[in-house]
Amino acid sequence: MSTLIKNGRIITAEQDYIGDIFIEDEKINLIGENLNNKADKVIDAKDKYVIPGGIDVHTHLDMPFGGTTSSDDFETGTKAAAFGGTTSLIDFAIQPKGKSFREGLDIWMAKADGKATIDYGFHMIITDLPDSRLSEMTDMVNEGITSFKLFLAYPNILMVDDATIYKAMKHTADTGALICMHAENGMVIDEIVRQTVAAGKLSPINHAYSRPAIAESESTHRAIALAQMAGSPVYIVHLTCNDALEKVSEARAKGLPAFAETCPQYLFHSIDDMDTPDFEGAKLVFSPPLREKWNQEKLWAGLRRNDLQVVSTDHCPFNFKGQKELGKDDFTKIPNGGPSLENRMHLTFQGGVNEGRLTLNRWVEINSTAPAKIFGMYPRKGSISVGSDADIVIWDPNAEHTISAETHHMNVDYSMYEGKKIKGNAETVLSRGKVIVQNNEFKGRTGRGNFIKRSAFGSTWD
Ligand code: URP
Ligand code: ZN
Ligand code: ZN
Repeated sequence: MSTLIKNGRIITAEQDYIGDIFIEDEKINLIGENLNNKADKVIDAKDKYVIPGGIDVHTHLDMPFGGTTSSDDFETGTKAAAFGGTTSLIDFAIQPKGKSFREGLDIWMAKADGKATIDYGFHMIITDLPDSRLSEMTDMVNEGITSFKLFLAYPNILMVDDATIYKAMKHTADTGALICMHAENGMVIDEIVRQTVAAGKLSPINHAYSRPAIAESESTHRAIALAQMAGSPVYIVHLTCNDALEKVSEARAKGLPAFAETCPQYLFHSIDDMDTPDFEGAKLVFSPPLREKWNQEKLWAGLRRNDLQVVSTDHCPFNFKGQKELGKDDFTKIPNGGPSLENRMHLTFQGGVNEGRLTLNRWVEINSTAPAKIFGMYPRKGSISVGSDADIVIWDPNAEHTISAETHHMNVDYSMYEGKKIKGNAETVLSRGKVIVQNNEFKGRTGRGNFIKRSAFGSTWD
């Protein structure tokens, strides 16, 4: 099967030019001007942007959490991702407490197998790490699980102590894996939560009040300091606010290998949006929580100057009806997480490119190329170059649409961006050379997505 994409404006993290792309089977075979290769399919991309497929490195599909399970599984989630121009994702497998990483990985491999439409990889969430398990970290790296997430939040559920984090970091310094940190001071937060509940403050916004920005910046600093002691890189996930960003910026200014992502919810929403008289604020309950509005422009600035390298979604959807409602009378029972896997590229294009905060190249970089480089997939993914996987999005910069739960493909009964107008959409989406979405129609096949065996950190990062 061969495909020729003609006359598109090819935009990568570095380049911007008009050209043709010839795809043979799953790979980009040739890039040039006025290509006349005989192809089974010809796509006219005149006046469209041709970009490497989006990569979302932070999703939670089919994840048990907060007494329920996230509502998108690998079938619905990866399909929704494709509609939004995302062609690869990295989800989180969880080590069952006291059990092996292998057991956790097997569970998540089975969840994805036969269901995913796009390619997927896994980070491993470490819940405990006796010395006897350190060699399993190496085993995971050899299998392409080259990143691990540890939590400074959620005591008694996912939180580990500083020594465990240090030990994991020290190990990755040798194996080349990357530690991803959920940076919030869980012990202090739990005490604030206890006091908040005791005072009878039970509505959704109290979730945010009980997780202050300083609890995030303290932990961000601590995570970076632990990595410095261990001599390893560190990647801060779902960074929300300027206080935490300053810690990353300071570290990077000193030349430390500290990296961080933010998510659309922190760029577009503030704590004020949770201040509703009813239970609607539950739709915006996730951790870390929303911050004061002034932080949003600071995060965009961080993305521009590369102190933030990536936008991921932390897609962790729970239906309002029946799931978020578990916490109707008590915010501590609201499952933490929100949906946006389908809309990451739309939102960053609208808020970034259309509204003048990001160049087109930078938009491609934060959504595709930097995630591929940091997480060991480049140049197979995140690139438009000869030999790369033909994960390509033909993006119509003029397509106007309105985000709504009525029309989105995510399996969740609300949108965090209901009614938001977007100019720019994924018109045609190719995954390894196969058109999987065209003109808002699904053309893919459930189960065609492959596991991505990733390389170690540093092998693809420059
Ligand atoms: O509230 C959130 N973010 N839920 C997903 C789990 C996590 O910490 O990423
Ligand atoms: Zn987290
Ligand atoms: Zn998450």
